[in-house]
Amino acid sequence: MASFSKLLEQRTVPKDKEKDKDDQVYLDSYADLGIHEEMLKDTMRVAAYKAAIDHYASEWQDAMVVDVGAGTGLLSVLCARSARRVVAIEASRLAHFLRQVVDTNVPGTVAVHECLAEELELDDGEKADVIISEWMGYCLLFENMLPSVLSVRDRYLKEGGQMLPSKCRLLMAPLQDSWREEKINFWRSVSGIDMSSLMPLARATFCSAPQHRIVDPKALLGDAFEVLCMDMHTVQSADLERFEADLRVTLPPGSRLDGIVTWFECEFGDAGWQLSTSPSKPATHWKQTVFYFRQAVEGGGGILLTGKTVVERHDEFSRGYRVTFDLKIPGRTSRMEAFELR
Ligand SMILES: C[S@@+](CC[C@H](N)C(=O)[O-])C[C@H]1O[C@@H](n2cnc3c(N)ncnc32)[C@H](O)[C@@H]1O
Repeated sequence: MASFSKLLEQRTVPKDKEKDKDDQVYLDSYADLGIHEEMLKDTMRVAAYKAAIDHYASEWQDAMVVDVGAGTGLLSVLCARSARRVVAIEASRLAHFLRQVVDTNVPGTVAVHECLAEELELDDGEKADVIISEWMGYCLLFENMLPSVLSVRDRYLKEGGQMLPSKCRLLMAPLQDSWREEKINFWRSVSGIDMSSLMPLARATFCSAPQHRIVDPKALLGDAFEVLCMDMHTVQSADLERFEADLRVTLPPGSRLDGIVTWFECEFGDAGWQLSTSPSKPATHWKQTVFYFRQAVEGGGGILLTGKTVVERHDEFSRGYRVTFDLKIPGRTSRMEAFELR
């Protein structure tokens, strides 16, 4: 997951071919076993899916489960221990090894389809009782894999079938921490050499790109607010194109708003809200995503900051997003902080 944005920078393709190239670069990133190792070592992630599968296991004797983006096969194998049949879809070159993993562990139960989810073709009339997928990226939506899952849902999920996860929400909270200033101040003097001319560049570097890092929960300046909440049975790809939320943040006296931290939570049907990437929960490989403002907002004697955050699909990188914060600061001019998630 993490290396995808680096690979993207290597693109040199005409505008009309950009999406295909993004897809190819994206799937190439998933052919790298290192990414899968990182995900499989994420014990919170694995435990959440395992708890959900265990919760439903006794109801799945006759069920057909589709695992969208099966990767190295963890979810397919776990599901196949209870379900009648599992269809595992994997578009990257890893599909070859996925086939070996399922054949070794649950022979005869999992059918591997090496194709894009969008191109999946099941036998005539065959429908899924359950669709399971681990599609979440940084800040929930980065990578934009969700529309691929929805394309399978819309064609192959039975009426009343189960989506796992079943609900997902994206949260934001105000943050005060010294990370950004430390990154900038580093350039003031390096081994006794005055490199302060690099400080504006450091500010531009660390404040335009969102930072994926573990945040100390004590650095939260106030309560979290919900920016997006999706029911996976009904959400549409169009809902992901653009959404917004009101900002209403009370800055305590003497505080300083350095930016906004985001995380997400996923519910797995009756098994409950099993997965949270909140700073107050044990760390996951998603960490949190922080949008550090170019200029911090001083809380003075205490202020109510209002405004709006807008999240919209990136117009150039089909798997990226643009995030803007329109800030209205009492007694000061309004300002906009804009970021690219790519
Ligand atoms: C986040 S990984 C999850 C892997 C595995 N399910 C797990 O939990 O360890 C997502 C996987 O989905 C695959 N994938 C992404 N988009 C896809 C698509 N449109 N069709 C098929 N596979 C896709 C990727 O290659 C990757 O292996």
